Amino acid sequence: MTRYSRITGTGSYLPPGRLTNAELAAELALKGVETSDEWIVERTGIRARHFAAPDVSSSDLATVAARNALEAAGVQASEIDLIIVATSTPDMVFPSVACIVQNKLGIAGCPAFDVQAVCSGFIYALTVADAMIKSGSASRALVIGAEVFSRILDFSDRTTCVLFGDGAGAVVLEASDTPGILASDLHADGKYVGILCVPGHVSGGQVMGSPLLTMDGQAVFKLAVGMLEGTARAALTKANLTETDIDWMIPHQANIRIMQSTTRKLKMPLEKMIVTVDQHGNTSAASIPLALDVSVRSGKVKKGDTLMLEGVGGGFTWGAVILNY
Ligand code: UT7
Repeated sequence: MTRYSRITGTGSYLPPGRLTNAELAAELALKGVETSDEWIVERTGIRARHFAAPDVSSSDLATVAARNALEAAGVQASEIDLIIVATSTPDMVFPSVACIVQNKLGIAGCPAFDVQAVCSGFIYALTVADAMIKSGSASRALVIGAEVFSRILDFSDRTTCVLFGDGAGAVVLEASDTPGILASDLHADGKYVGILCVPGHVSGGQVMGSPLLTMDGQAVFKLAVGMLEGTARAALTKANLTETDIDWMIPHQANIRIMQSTTRKLKMPLEKMIVTVDQHGNTSAASIPLALDVSVRSGKVKKGDTLMLEGVGGGFTWGAVILNY
């Protein structure tokens, strides 16, 4: 019998600190940084984002999201045999957020590691977990995207600091006789490292270079649309499906204009696109599982629906997963 992997539960968590555009603009104005609700909404579709309190880390957000996903799946933490966390804002240089989450969940022994593919991280993590389940090396995985991007934002740079937020999303992915994940498609091109990065690193007890996010927004925008279209089409081909088979498109929530133009290029109706960027901002690796959980809990996404998840981010990395929910 063919072995597949299937999502059996979703969960998410947003830290309580919510900041509207107007509130953020007022805070930035105190630092002499000029922006407005109008500009942010028009250029990005973002209306609000959540920022974690200073003592809250990615593993804290990830653990709550994971518990919610476990509850939805009806699975005990002790039954989990693999933990993968996608993050670019880990608690520490090492060990991984996944190991910290494992301990916070009160379990031990199963493999746990992080995947670093920035905003495509969850697509990468889900693909790795799927492969490990299909190969028989895991049966019940927690796949989590968790970020505290507020920690790496340059609040003197209005072109980036208005875009991002904090949060976490998680799924329980289990071995199944029926599919599940139908296809995935992953890519990277390291020649674009410089257009979206946090160039700093730790050396000799000091941070060398800037520890804050820097981005050439227009370059990212142009590349993102073409890459997302390409990977979505490749995943459809691998799944032997067409765009009309997709019930819901769940893109990485970076900018409503990127999301809309990719969806239009695929000739999919915009009503089939899940949008949370307005309320969450760009939560990087957390954005797709967050959007998935929100749409499952709101009743939009139902059992049996065919979903297209797609992401693009620093690296450059990009990819798509098609699954039967
Ligand atoms: O997960 C992947 C992560 N990244 C992305 O998805 C980002 C992709 N890029 C984008 O989303 C867009 O390029 C941005 C939202 C970052 C920028 O939008 P844009 O339409 O490309 O604006 P722009 O960079 O062309 O800037 C237009 C104007 C500039 O002023 P001038 O030069 O025309 O006078 C900017 O200085 O808007 C100005 N501007 C702002 N004004 C008010 C830039 N940021 C702001 C701001 N508030 N926050």
